[in-house]
Amino acid sequence: MRRRTFLGAVLAFDVAIYAILISGCGGGGSSGSTPPVTKGSMVVFGYNDLGMHCMNQDFAELCILPPANTLRAQVIDRTSGEGPVITTSGIVVNYSIPGNTGSNTKTNFWQYAGALFGANLPTNIGLFGFGLSGTMQATANNDFWAHGVPLTPLTDATAIDPFQLGHISVTKAGIEVASTDAVVPVSWEIKCDNCHTTAGISVATDILRKHDTKHGTTLESQKPVLCAGCHADPALGAAGHVGVSTMSSAMHSSHATRMGGLTGIDICYSCHPGPQTQCLRDVHKSKGLTCLNCHVSMAAVGDPSRTPWKDEPKCGTCHAVAGHEYEQTGVLYRDSVGHNGVKCIACHGSPHAIGPSMNARDNVQAIALQGKAGTISKCTVCHTSTPGDAFNHTSGSAGLKRLSASKGIR
Ligand code: HEC
Ligand code: HEC
Ligand code: HEC
Ligand code: HEC
Ligand code: HEC
Ligand code: HEC
Ligand code: HEC
Repeated sequence: MRRRTFLGAVLAFDVAIYAILISGCGGGGSSGSTPPVTKGSMVVFGYNDLGMHCMNQDFAELCILPPANTLRAQVIDRTSGEGPVITTSGIVVNYSIPGNTGSNTKTNFWQYAGALFGANLPTNIGLFGFGLSGTMQATANNDFWAHGVPLTPLTDATAIDPFQLGHISVTKAGIEVASTDAVVPVSWEIKCDNCHTTAGISVATDILRKHDTKHGTTLESQKPVLCAGCHADPALGAAGHVGVSTMSSAMHSSHATRMGGLTGIDICYSCHPGPQTQCLRDVHKSKGLTCLNCHVSMAAVGDPSRTPWKDEPKCGTCHAVAGHEYEQTGVLYRDSVGHNGVKCIACHGSPHAIGPSMNARDNVQAIALQGKAGTISKCTVCHTSTPGDAFNHTSGSAGLKRLSASKGIR
C-alpha cells in the first residue's frame, strides 16, 4: 500500500502509468470487479507470419508472388482478475504502416490482377480484401490478422525499405489499451537477373522463353503468366495442374545443379532476398548459421516428397531443454503456442527474425516491452506481478490444470 501511494505521488502526472502501477500492485481483488480500461491494461504482440515476404514488382510478363503480406497480433488482457488472459473479443485492433499509404504507383499489380488472378480489386486493396491500413480480423487461432496486405518495399518517400515498421493499436470502448510496432518485411530483390540475362530481351522473357524451349509450353505468347496456374503453390492456395511439379519443387530441383560456385547463404540469396536485403538476420545468423543448417540444400527443399510451405524446419530438431515443449505436432512454428496459449512467435519473433535480431527494427517491440532485445522473458510484460510459480515452456494444458487446482478455478 505504502509503495503504491509513493509511486502514485511521484507519477501522478502520468495517468496511464499510474493506472498500470495500481493494477500491478493490486493483486487479487483490490481493483474491484471492473477491470480498468486504460493504456497498459492490455499488451499486444505484433508479428509477421514469414519473417520475409517476396513479391514481384512488375507483373506485365510473369507473376511468381503478388504483394501479399500478413501482419498478425495477439492481445493479452493483463488485468482480467485471474492472471493474464489471451483475448479476441470486446476490442478493436487497427493497423497501419506509417510512411507507406499507397502501392498503386509503386507496382503495376492492379493493372494485371484481373488477368492473373481473375480478381477485380479496388486500387491499393490486396487479394484478401485488406489494404495498407485498417482493422484486423480475429482468427480461429486466438489472434488477429490482416491478410494479403499489398505492401511494397518502396516507401512514400521513395526509399527502398524491406523492414518497415507497422503500427498496431488496440482499443476498447474507444480507449487505446495497448499499442506496438512490428516489422512488416517485404522485398522484390529476387535475383533471377543474376543468370537470366540475354541481350535484347527482358529477364522475364528470357525465363519464359527458356521454359517454352525446354518444356514445350507457349508461355511467351500468354503474358502475363501466373506460374502457379500450372505449378501447385500452397502459398497462393493454387492447386496447379495434375502431374506438374509444385512451384517449389520445380524451382529448387531444376536449379540445384545450376548454382555454379556459390556456397552457403549465397546459393539461396540468388533468388531469396538477398545480398542487399539480408532476410536471414536473426540470432542464428549472428551465431554463424546459414539457410543450409536448417533447410539442408536446394535438392532437399526441391524434394518432391515434401509438401512446400508445410514441411518446414522445427525448433525442436536442434533445441532440447528438459521440460520444454516446442511446436505442436503438424503445426508450423508461426501457429504454435507455448506458455499457456501464448504464440511462440509473440515471445521469440518471426521466422528468420528470432530475437535478438541483427536488424534493430525487429528488436523495437521487445525493447519497448521489457527494456531489452531478445526473447520476451520478463514476466510482468503480461502478468501484473511476478508469479510465484515457475515459468512453464509448454502449450498449456498441464500448466492451466495446475493453475486451476491452486486457485480453485475452472
Ligand atoms: C545461378 C543462376 C540462375 C539463377 C539465379 C536463376 N536461374 Fe533459372 N535457370 C538457370 C539456368 C542455367 C537454366 C537453364 C538454361 C538452359 O538450359 O538453357 C535456367 C532455367 C530456368 C527455367 C527454365 C525451366 C527449367 O527447366 O528449369 C526457368 C523457368 C527458370 N530458370 C526460372 C528462374 C527464375 C524464376 C529465377 C529467379 C527466381 C531463376 N530462374 C534464377 C540459372 C539460374
Ligand atoms: C501452362 C502450364 C505452365 C505454366 C504456366 C508454367 N509452367 Fe513451369 N512447367 C510446366 C510443365 C508441364 C513442366 C515440365 C513438367 C514438370 O516439371 O512437372 C514445367 C517445368 C518447369 C521447371 C523445370 C522443373 C524441373 O524439375 O526440371 C521450372 C523451373 C518451371 N517450370 C518454372 C516455371 C515458372 C517460373 C513459371 C512462371 C513463370 C512456370 N513454370 C509456369 C508447366 C507450366
Ligand atoms: C533459382 C531460384 C531459387 C533459389 C536459388 C532458391 N530458391 Fe527457394 N524459392 C524460390 C521460389 C521462386 C520460391 C517460391 C515458390 C512458391 O511460390 O511456392 C521459393 C520458396 C522457398 C521456400 C518455401 C516453399 C517450400 O518449399 O517450403 C523455401 C523453404 C525455400 N525456398 C528455401 C530455399 C533455400 C533454403 C534455398 C537455398 C538452399 C533456396 N530456397 C534457393 C526460388 C529459389
Ligand atoms: C534457424 C533455422 C533457419 C534458418 C537458418 C533459415 N530458416 Fe527458413 N525457415 C525456418 C523455419 C523454422 C521455417 C518455418 C516457419 C514456420 O513454421 O512458421 C522456415 C521457413 C522458410 C520459408 C517459408 C516461408 C516461411 O517463412 O515460413 C522460406 C522461403 C525460408 N524458410 C527460406 C530461408 C532462407 C532463404 C534462409 C537463408 C537466407 C533460411 N530460410 C534460413 C528455419 C530457418
Ligand atoms: C539447425 C538447428 C537449429 C534450428 C532448426 C533452430 N535453432 Fe535456434 N539455435 C541453434 C544454434 C546452433 C544456436 C546457437 C547456440 C549457441 O551458440 O549457444 C541457436 C540459438 C538460438 C537462440 C539463442 C539462445 C541463446 O541462448 O543464445 C534462440 C532463442 C533460438 N535459437 C531459438 C530458436 C527457435 C525459436 C527456433 C525455431 C523457429 C530455432 N531456434 C531453430 C540451432 C537451431
Ligand atoms: C511467454 C514467452 C514464451 C513463449 C510463448 C515461448 N517461449 Fe520459447 N523461450 C522463452 C524463454 C523465456 C526462453 C529462455 C529459456 C528459459 O529461460 O527457460 C525460451 C527458450 C526457447 C528456445 C531456446 C532453448 C535453448 O536451447 O536455449 C527455443 C528453441 C524456444 N524457446 C522455442 C519456443 C517455441 C517453439 C515456442 C512455441 C511452441 C515457444 N518457444 C514459446 C519464452 C517463450
Ligand atoms: C507473453 C505473455 C506472458 C509472459 C511474458 C509470461 N506469462 Fe505466464 N502466463 C501468460 C498467460 C496468457 C497465462 C495463462 C493464464 C490463464 O489462462 O489463466 C500465463 C500463466 C502462467 C502461470 C500459470 C500456469 C501454470 O503453469 O501454472 C504461471 C505460473 C506463469 N504464467 C508464470 C510465468 C512466469 C514465471 C513468467 C516470467 C518468467 C511468465 N509467466 C511470463 C502469459 C505470459
